[in-house]
Amino acid sequence: MAKTIVAGNWKMNLTISEAQKMVADLVSLGPCPEDVTGILIPNFVALKTVADEIKGTSYKLGAQNMSSEDQGAFTGEISWDMLTDVGASYCIIGHSERRTIYLENNSQIEKKLKKALASGITPILCVGESQEKREAGEAKKRVEGQIHRATLGLKEEDVKKIIIAYEPLWAIGTGAAASPEDAEDMCKTIREWIRKGFGDEVADQLSILYGGSVKPENIQSFLEKEDINGALVGGASLKAKDFYALCQEVSHEN
Ligand code: 13P
Repeated sequence: MAKTIVAGNWKMNLTISEAQKMVADLVSLGPCPEDVTGILIPNFVALKTVADEIKGTSYKLGAQNMSSEDQGAFTGEISWDMLTDVGASYCIIGHSERRTIYLENNSQIEKKLKKALASGITPILCVGESQEKREAGEAKKRVEGQIHRATLGLKEEDVKKIIIAYEPLWAIGTGAAASPEDAEDMCKTIREWIRKGFGDEVADQLSILYGGSVKPENIQSFLEKEDINGALVGGASLKAKDFYALCQEVSHEN
């Protein structure tokens, strides 16, 4: 069965002291429900602070990006062993802001994904279409292309370790989330592509997240859908009480 995941992508927000306070507040509100994987994804310089603050809790740590190289002359990059060393076990790969603002292409994303898998870091592969592509009726074609390229040549046991996040660009940071029906339609299609390529076992246990203007008030409407197993949350993950509420909302413990 697919795991329920709430991942908070802080993007370029929160200084070290703000991050420390956010996580201390979060931990003081209570534990992450046992049936939910709650992942905090701060900026690089706050990783160590967050790692220290979540020690002894069940919250997990992730990074927003990583290099496809091991080490060396790659100014401004962060390697897998630096992430592992600081305690990050997840990494976002191919976020749309990396694709559109920093022109990361499918080939770079494919390399990063393979490096994450080879180094034991769980990749959160982001895919999604622009408004333009959606209006042109090409949303599925675009997302299928992104998934196809990223998973090229991978074996079933590799794909089993990937989390896929469907984040339509037009829903990110706009306050206008996709409708749960549209999000489900894409997430179901993603699961069927994975089924076709890698079989039932991989498809059935794949966690597919929806991302784009998710908040405590609407997260349940997405998680109610059969093929949406969690959320990748930006803005609403920055405040302790909101992130706590997001994790509580999707738990079956309550
Ligand atoms: P928002 O939740 O702020 O729309 O951001 C979504 C996102 O890009 C998470 O990776």
